[in-house]
Amino acid sequence: MKVLVTGTAGFIGSHLAERLLAEGHDVVGVDAFTEYYDRRLKERNLEALVTHPNFQIVEGDLAVIDLAGLLDGCEIVFHLAAQPGVRASWGNDFHLYLERNLWATQRLLEAVRDRPLHKFVFASSSSVYGNAERYPTVETDVPQPISPYGVSKLAGERLCLAYASSYGVPVVALRYFTVYGPRQRPDMAFSRFIAALSEGQEIMIYGDGKQTRDFTYVSDAVAATVAAGFEDVSNDVVNVGGGSRVTVLDVLALLREITEQELSVRFVETQRGDVRDTGADIMRARDVIGYNPRVSLSEGLFRQIEFSRASNAAPALPTSVPRD
Ligand code: NAD
Ligand code: UGA
Repeated sequence: MKVLVTGTAGFIGSHLAERLLAEGHDVVGVDAFTEYYDRRLKERNLEALVTHPNFQIVEGDLAVIDLAGLLDGCEIVFHLAAQPGVRASWGNDFHLYLERNLWATQRLLEAVRDRPLHKFVFASSSSVYGNAERYPTVETDVPQPISPYGVSKLAGERLCLAYASSYGVPVVALRYFTVYGPRQRPDMAFSRFIAALSEGQEIMIYGDGKQTRDFTYVSDAVAATVAAGFEDVSNDVVNVGGGSRVTVLDVLALLREITEQELSVRFVETQRGDVRDTGADIMRARDVIGYNPRVSLSEGLFRQIEFSRASNAAPALPTSVPRD
């Protein structure tokens, strides 16, 4: 099948495109190489893709480019392009969240609405829940985002569902829960912790470190995304969580154990927009897309450290490291 992956040069998009190519599909990628983080990292993300004969990359902004040509022959759209980042979404940059998370999504939906399409998969987020009414959180629980980013992702998700109900666009919105692993965005916690450790800097913890996240390894998120594209499911919203919920302090303990290094930690104030806890009920994902997260936090964190070390950004690992 020929598929479109938006945001292909990003963290999750690049892993997804690699997986789709490995499964024999033709992949058209589009990315605007936005300035949110270093373009060189995004170019590096594409290294394994650009030499593949079934891969084509288009540099362009979904908010402005001609989409008809881009979509030509594509049967599935994996829409991952977005302005991410919870804590950066306050203030003057909110227009970027509107343009990249809503306007770009609306243009794409308009462009597909009268086409025969097998699936439109939208990358939504656990941040739509805000401080959820219960844990683990079920898809039908009332979304109450507390960050502008979360509001923009919820609006994007609802826009997709509006096109599903009025035009029959076969939409699946996946609510990813804090994804990590090799190539993780540099603004995210694990990347920042590993970089601080390798540079001998303090690790900064927002709040008391007892906040929890349902961390999800990137290959698990990708497996769910591929299944959402190809399985017989549409008009649906599905949680994609890692299957275990831990505190940020637990992550630090694991980091210490894996690297056998002492960590220098500074606690600073809780950041506006950060939810206290996330935790996914993944029963729906199991039922409709056969999702089953496979990579444990210790194994996944180990792999991310190894990757960073290979990119000269992580502390040396001791010869015997704990693994599952
Ligand atoms: P990322 O920033 O690494 O990737 C997004 C890519 O989209 C970037 O390469 C960027 O250049 C591109 N892009 C942004 N606006 C664009 C536009 N208008 N046109 C074309 N390209 C554009 O982010 P990521 O962490 O890989 O996240 C991927 C998706 O998953 C996003 O939709 C994000 O909101 C969602 N998500 C991520 C996480 C996570 O933990 N990483 C969790 C929940 C949801
Ligand atoms: C992540 C992504 O950045 C969002 O794009 C995504 O939508 C969201 O997950 C989601 O699941 O919906 P976040 O959970 O904030 O957001 O991910 P991290 O940046 O990895 O932060 C994890 C935790 O570590 C948060 O509690 C944060 O406050 C904390 N943290 C982060 C620190 O204590 N110190 C840091 O330097 C960075």
